[in-house]
Amino acid sequence: MQRLHKSVLLAECLEALAIRPGGKYADMTFGEGGHSEAILEAGAGLVVGVDRDSETLDDYRESGTYRTDPRLELHHTTLEEFAAQSDGQKFDGILADLGVSTRQLLTAERGFSLQADGPLDMRMDRTQETSLEDYLAHVKLEDLASDLKRVADLQQARGMARKILNAREKGTLRRTSDLARVAGGAWSKVHPATPVFLALRMIVNREFDQVETGLPQLFERLVPGGRLAVITFHSTEDRLVKRLFATLAGRCVCAHTPCECPRVERGKLLTPKPIAPSEAELEANPRSRSAKLRCIEKLAVTA
Ligand SMILES: C[S@@+](CC[C@H](N)C(=O)[O-])C[C@H]1O[C@@H](n2cnc3c(N)ncnc32)[C@H](O)[C@@H]1O
Repeated sequence: MQRLHKSVLLAECLEALAIRPGGKYADMTFGEGGHSEAILEAGAGLVVGVDRDSETLDDYRESGTYRTDPRLELHHTTLEEFAAQSDGQKFDGILADLGVSTRQLLTAERGFSLQADGPLDMRMDRTQETSLEDYLAHVKLEDLASDLKRVADLQQARGMARKILNAREKGTLRRTSDLARVAGGAWSKVHPATPVFLALRMIVNREFDQVETGLPQLFERLVPGGRLAVITFHSTEDRLVKRLFATLAGRCVCAHTPCECPRVERGKLLTPKPIAPSEAELEANPRSRSAKLRCIEKLAVTA
C-alpha cells in the first residue's frame, strides 16, 4: 500500500501524549496508521487502532508495516461506539485526528472530493446505510438548513439548503460535480463550494455528534495521568473540544452571572492555546493548514 496520507502534527502529538514505554494507547482515527506507527516506535506496549472505514483497515492488514506486530490491535468501529464500550480497558493516552484521510479524499468514487466527479456518497464507512444521496432524498428544508448551520456554521444556510433541494427536485443534482456547481459561485482562493462539501460530509457521518458524545466518554477511559489529544480541522469542532476541555479543567463555560458551571477540576489543560502546524509542515503538507491540536491530562486525584 502506497501511503497517501501525511500524518499531521506528528511530533507535536507524540510530545502531547508523552508516550510511556510499555504504555497502552488508543488511536481513534487510525487512517493509514501514521500516528499509530509513531506511537509504537516511541515505545508503546499496545496501540488499539480504531477506524470506521473498514477499507482503510483492510489495506493496512494487507501491507501495513506493523500489520503482524502483536502490539497493534485494529478495530472497525466508530469513536463514539468505542468510547461507549464498557469493557473497562483504560489507556495512558488517546488520540483523535478527526476528518477524512487523503486517500478517502482522493478516491473519486467515495464522493468526498470537489475536484474529481463522483457519486453523492461521502460515507466514511461504506457499510453505513445513509449516503449523501439518501440523506438529501429524505431531509426537510428546515432540517438541512439547521444541520448546515450547526455543524459548519455555514453562512446563509437556509438559502443554500433551498438551492440544494431545488436542484435535487429538478433532477440536476446527481453527482458531486453537480453539487460543486449548485453550491459554488465565483472562484476566489478556495472553491466557494468547499464549506458546503465539508458541512454535508460532517452531516452524513454525524461527525459533530461523534465528537460531542464520544470525547467525554473517552476521557473516562484514561488512567489517572493519562492524556487525550484531539486534532480538529474545523472551527465548530475545535470550539466543541475547547469547551469540553475547559469544563473538564473546572473552568467556567457559561454566560451566566453568577456562574452555573459545576467547576469540578478533573483534568489539566496542556494546551491553553491550540497547537498549529509549523511553517515547515504547512509548506510540506498544505492539507494541514487548518489543523489544531488540543490536549488534556486526567488528574491523578479526581473529585
Ligand atoms: C485524518 S484521517 C487520520 C489519519 C491518521 N492519523 C494517519 O496518520 O494516517 C481520519 C481517519 O479517521 C477515520 N474517522 C474519522 N472520524 C472517525 C470516527 N468518529 N470514528 C472512527 N473513525 C473515524 C476516517 O475514516 C479516516 O480514516
